[in-house]
This record gives sequence, C-alpha cells and structure tokens, in this order.
Amino acid sequence: MAGLAADLDGKRSILTGGATGIGAAMVRAFAGQGAYVEFLDLNAEAGAKLASELGARVRFHHVDLTDTDALQACIGEIAGARGVDILVNGAANDMRHKYEDVTPDSWRSTLAVNLDHQFFCAQSVLPVMRAQKAGVILNFGSIAWREGLADAVGYVTAKAGIEGLTKSLAREAGSDGVRVNCLLPGFVRTERQVEKWLTPELEATVMERQCLPRYIEPQDIADVALFLCSDAARALTNQTIVVDAGWT
Ligand SMILES: NC(=O)c1ccc[n+]([C@@H]2O[C@H](COP(=O)([O-])OP(=O)(O)OC[C@H]3O[C@@H](n4cnc5c(N)ncnc54)[C@H](O)[C@@H]3O)[C@@H](O)[C@H]2O)c1
Repeated sequence: MAGLAADLDGKRSILTGGATGIGAAMVRAFAGQGAYVEFLDLNAEAGAKLASELGARVRFHHVDLTDTDALQACIGEIAGARGVDILVNGAANDMRHKYEDVTPDSWRSTLAVNLDHQFFCAQSVLPVMRAQKAGVILNFGSIAWREGLADAVGYVTAKAGIEGLTKSLAREAGSDGVRVNCLLPGFVRTERQVEKWLTPELEATVMERQCLPRYIEPQDIADVALFLCSDAARALTNQTIVVDAGWT
C-alpha cells in the first residue's frame, strides 16, 4: 500500500456504525489500505452486503450498541482473537425530538446510542492497547453541538460529552502510547442526510455558511480518519479535528 496511511496495512481496526454513511466510507477506506476491519452495526442487511463486497479481512457484526453487554462481548471476542490497534466510534442516531417530549427513557436511549457506546467500546479495547503500548481511538462528534442545533437536545448533549470523553481518555492512556482524538464533521452528504433533511433551503444555507461551496462527501471524512489513525498523526492526540469545509 502506498500513501500517507500506508502503515495501516495489516492493522486491526474496529469500527462502530460501519454499515451506512460515513461509517461505510471508512470501512471501504480502511479495507483499501489493507487493514483488518471488524464493524458493528444494527443494520444487518447493509452491513452484510458491504462486508460481502470487501473480502476476508472485513467482518460485519450485527450488534445493537445500546446493549452494553452485547457490545462488550463482541469487542472482547474480537480483541481476544485478533487483537486491536484502532477503534473508530462512528455510530449515532441523530433523531429529532422536541425537548418537551423527552422522557427519562427516551433521554437514556438517546445517550445510550450517541454517547455511552463510545465510552464502553473504548473501555473494552483500552486494556489491550495499553498492554501493547500502542493504539488509536477516534471518536465522532459533530458541529451540531457547537451550533446549538434545535430539536435534538439529547443528540447535541451527547456530542458535547464526546469531546470531554476524548480529553479524559487521551490523558489517561497517553502514558501507554495510546492516542485518542475526536473528529467533528460538518454537513456531510450521506444517504440519510439527503433522504431526511436535504431541502433546497438547507443546500443554500450549507453553501453560504461553508467557506468552500461544495458538499462534504463521506469519502472526505474517511480520508481524514485514515490520516488520524495512521502513524502520520503519531504526535496528534487529545484533539478535536473539525472537518466542516470552513463552516462559520
Ligand atoms: N452526516 C453528517 O452530516 C454528520 C454531521 C456531523 C456528525 N456526524 C457524525 O458522523 C458519524 C457518522 O454519521 P453518518 O451521517 O454516517 O450517520 P448514519 O446515520 O448514516 O450512520 C450511522 C450508523 O450507525 C448505525 N447505528 C445507529 N444506531 C445503532 C445502534 N443502536 N447499534 C448499532 N449501530 C447503530 C446505523 O445503522 C448507521 O449504519 C456519527 O457519529 C454522526 O453523529 C455526521
């Protein structure tokens, strides 16, 4: 493999939420660099289809990440059998909700998918990474919390928390050579964004607010993720990297 992320060849990666959107672009990108890819997702059909296209180094695990016992068992099995060098926490659910309608149960389930799983996945891989004195964890946040996106208070709260989670784990695990960073995408043209939210009005806003008047595609985010998980970023930890085409 050539290029800046050439050292990813043979690296063992675990990705959450790899069946669709940015996650699927990252699964393809890591596989394209020769990495082993294990990805966990709720979407059985899309996950199995993607894995079947990419060969034996890519394996799909059908897991509901809000089931902490199931995610820990899955990651424990992967880390025990194959080991792990890289964890990318990409799964999320940006469901909209009025704050007036939030109940204790709906609040817990929003945080479970958007925040809790990132911590419990990290907790599951850190003993292995710390023992081998190397590893990379990449958490996915969003510019949504810095923007104060309305009608998504649970999602926005989770995305704010991920930056604190990142900084705390970077400090704790850095002494053993483990890097922990957070990637904040701007508006990325995924299938879901196009289907659910992309109106002509939103397109006009995106093109006006971004310095670069072009859509950010999933591959744009996957390329930055490759860099952040590679040795090219070996001195980079405890950071939030914003990839938003200059949104202001
Ligand atoms: N697309 C954007 O514009 C954008 C902007 C800012 C941040 N982000 C962040 O980037 C990451 C990827 O976003 P995306 O747009 O590709 O999202 P997406 O909705 O297209 O994909 C998310 C994936 O997570 C999976 N998932 C959801 N709930 C799950 C659960 N309980 N268990 C297992 N898997 C589950 C889904 O099946 C899906 O494959 C997310 O963390 C998101 O918050 C995206």
